[in-house]
Amino acid sequence: MRKNIVAGNWKMNTTVPEGVQLAKEVNEAVAAAADLKCDVIVGVPFTHLTAVKDVIDMGKVGLAAQNCANHTSGAYTGEVSAAMVASTGANYVILGHSERRGYYNETAEMLKEKVDLALENGLKVIFCCGESLEERENGSFKDVIGAEIRDSLFHLSAEQFANIVIAYEPIWAIGTGKTATSDQAQEIHAFIRGLLAEHFGAQVADDTTILYGGSCKPSNAPELFAKPDIDGGLIGGASLKAADFMGIVTAF
Ligand code: 13P
Repeated sequence: MRKNIVAGNWKMNTTVPEGVQLAKEVNEAVAAAADLKCDVIVGVPFTHLTAVKDVIDMGKVGLAAQNCANHTSGAYTGEVSAAMVASTGANYVILGHSERRGYYNETAEMLKEKVDLALENGLKVIFCCGESLEERENGSFKDVIGAEIRDSLFHLSAEQFANIVIAYEPIWAIGTGKTATSDQAQEIHAFIRGLLAEHFGAQVADDTTILYGGSCKPSNAPELFAKPDIDGGLIGGASLKAADFMGIVTAF
């Protein structure tokens, strides 16, 4: 049985003290919530990882970085390796976010290297994919999403793939207040699960958690999460307030 997950992606928000405070609030709310139907993860800036680790109970709240380098170590000024991320105690890394692909020119090949390094260092990967508005409108969106998944993940073995979570995030829905309808999201989630079934087999496809991201909030999460192939969310803006985030966590 696959897991439901609600993960916050704080992006480039909060100072370290603000982030520690937010993490404490999320941790307390999760500890107080009875019978949660999902795992909860906070995706924080690199600078926050060790401090946040100290204030969360990692048996209840997972910890993710938002990126890692596509090199092992060495002369890459400003980069943070997968081994460094793992050494903070983080257990997840978000890779392939459209903001990284778009603003920092991350290619499928680079993401493949990052995925390999993350897995080698014992991190689970939340791998993002999703189409632009233009790709949605010109009808190429399934080809785009399929290529993103194939080109960076299909070299993995089924055993390795057990450590991959997919996040479908239509770029036109990120930070725009314009959510995909639950039917639009379900269609893509089912499409992605079909691709995984073709390549890795039905069992792997069935066991893979597929998250939706893009203007997800407490008011629309219940309808999205009710769909059979939507196993939770990757939450940007609404993860920056513990009450809003918990409104999504408790939407199952
Ligand atoms: P918003 O929830 O702010 O639309 O961001 C979604 C996202 O990009 C999560 O990774």
